[in-house]
Amino acid sequence: MIERIINTDAAADDPIEQEIEFTLRPRDFTNYIGQERLKQNLQLAIRAAKKRGEPLDHILLYGPPGLGKTTMATVIANEMGAQIRITSGPAVERAGDLASLLTNLQDGDILFIDEIHRLHRVVEEVLYSAMEDYKLDIMLGKGPSARSLRLDLPKFTIIGATTRTGALAAPLRDRFGMIHRLEFYKPSEIQQIIERAASILNVKINKLAAETLATRARLTPRIANRLLKRVRDYADVNGDGIIDHKISTQALELLEVDELGLDPADRMLLLAIIENYKGGPVGVETLAALISEERGTIEDFYEPYLMQIGLLERTPRGRKVTHKAYKHLGKKMNNPGQTSLV
Ligand code: ADE
Repeated sequence: MIERIINTDAAADDPIEQEIEFTLRPRDFTNYIGQERLKQNLQLAIRAAKKRGEPLDHILLYGPPGLGKTTMATVIANEMGAQIRITSGPAVERAGDLASLLTNLQDGDILFIDEIHRLHRVVEEVLYSAMEDYKLDIMLGKGPSARSLRLDLPKFTIIGATTRTGALAAPLRDRFGMIHRLEFYKPSEIQQIIERAASILNVKINKLAAETLATRARLTPRIANRLLKRVRDYADVNGDGIIDHKISTQALELLEVDELGLDPADRMLLLAIIENYKGGPVGVETLAALISEERGTIEDFYEPYLMQIGLLERTPRGRKVTHKAYKHLGKKMNNPGQTSLV
């Protein structure tokens, strides 16, 4: 994928970034800003489970990257007073890996599986009975002498996270008692998240600058925190460390993040549809080839935000840019009848 400041990947390979991301994470519902309905639903489920002395039902969280699925899982664990183990779909390569994760849990523990849609089929099948009746079915040996063994497991909770529920096999999806979508945050919530992060990191930022950053952070906390750090660098080098409106707009200009939070890659995608397909519709595969990106990256990273702010539409015949996108890019519509007037 193209290296982008607004990339929503977790800071997987930079230990300092990882550490900062971890420090900024809220640890309980009180400090978690936004996702109000989800919080209410989870708080209810947690209270009920605690009252009954039972483990929490399995939970599936889905939605675009960077909206706080992992953070929410750690908050749930803290609120339950439970331990959390964190893994991801591709990391669990064999059924044996899953068996070892599950047998090392204790009653009430939470196993968080990120990118659960990428679990291998054989591993996924072991998970079914584990989730349903806390039993682990394992095969011993091979061929005619093979025997199957059923082990009791602790009463654990799986929290699965995925960017796409559609990619999850129905039998797996059906085993989650709660399925919730994380929504994009409101600009006012992103502003609060920026102000909270600034205070934790000891960064001085005024209200107007926080508002400017909030409108350009793609309604996504991970991007908001990342922009804050880059703008802080700019303020330290080009000013006295204080982030005001002027510093923030100059820094964002240098980062090529525009007023709507789009970067050059987003603009390239929209322009590709406008210039080559008169605004669309164009199939996602064609689009992927046109801008040399993978289809999954377009679907997971580019499109959710572009659709959220009304620049792009998904139709049965493909992707279409909207009137608002033409306007934002300063382009004239050749055939206004073809494009929706959003
Ligand atoms: N940092 C990242 N996400 C956050 C959230 N939802 N609330 C508070 N701080 C955050």
